[in-house]
Amino acid sequence: MNKKLPDKVLVTSDEIRRRVEELAGEIACRYKGEDIVILALLRGSFVFLADLIRSLFFHGIRPRIDFISVSSYGSGVESSGRLEIEQRYLKGLQGKNVVVLDDILDTGLTISGIVALVMNEKPLDISVCVLLDKPSRRKHPVQADFKGFTIDDLFVVGYGLDYDDDYRYLPYIAELSI
Ligand code: IMP
Ligand code: MG
Repeated sequence: MNKKLPDKVLVTSDEIRRRVEELAGEIACRYKGEDIVILALLRGSFVFLADLIRSLFFHGIRPRIDFISVSSYGSGVESSGRLEIEQRYLKGLQGKNVVVLDDILDTGLTISGIVALVMNEKPLDISVCVLLDKPSRRKHPVQADFKGFTIDDLFVVGYGLDYDDDYRYLPYIAELSI
């Protein structure tokens, strides 16, 4: 049986669409005319990625897209504090402009770990783009160069973000009270 849908919408699909278009403009401005590689963290970033790359195209950016599979969450809401990373796709980033893309920046464990691994590959430039930022939860020193929305310390789902593999399909971001 389907679980109840969260009833508190935090960011509507219209707000997301407008902000993603603005983010594409900001990214295009930083990398004017240059090639970029988007390193998208699976699985949470896939909806954001799909919208962002199509907006980027309208700004003249035709990115290479690589995926990297990372997990630190179990089935709950607290990170396990360990990262499991599929490192295969880190190869081939040398001399490239790399944009690390994720759904949400929480404690910073994931992004700081990925940034360190990408740096080992000697990219030309590295930036971080997230749809959501929860700065009050930060434990690892990392900031997003491009961020959609700053939110409070809430557990959110939708637009790619899940709880226990559910809710990724929601076209909006909602708060889930657990
Ligand atoms: P961090 O490593 O603690 O920054 O956590 C980042 C990862 O945790 C994200 O890629 C998400 O997969 C997951 N995460 C953090 N906060 C939330 C949330 O509110 N909802 C769903 N997933 C979250
Ligand atoms: Mg994630």
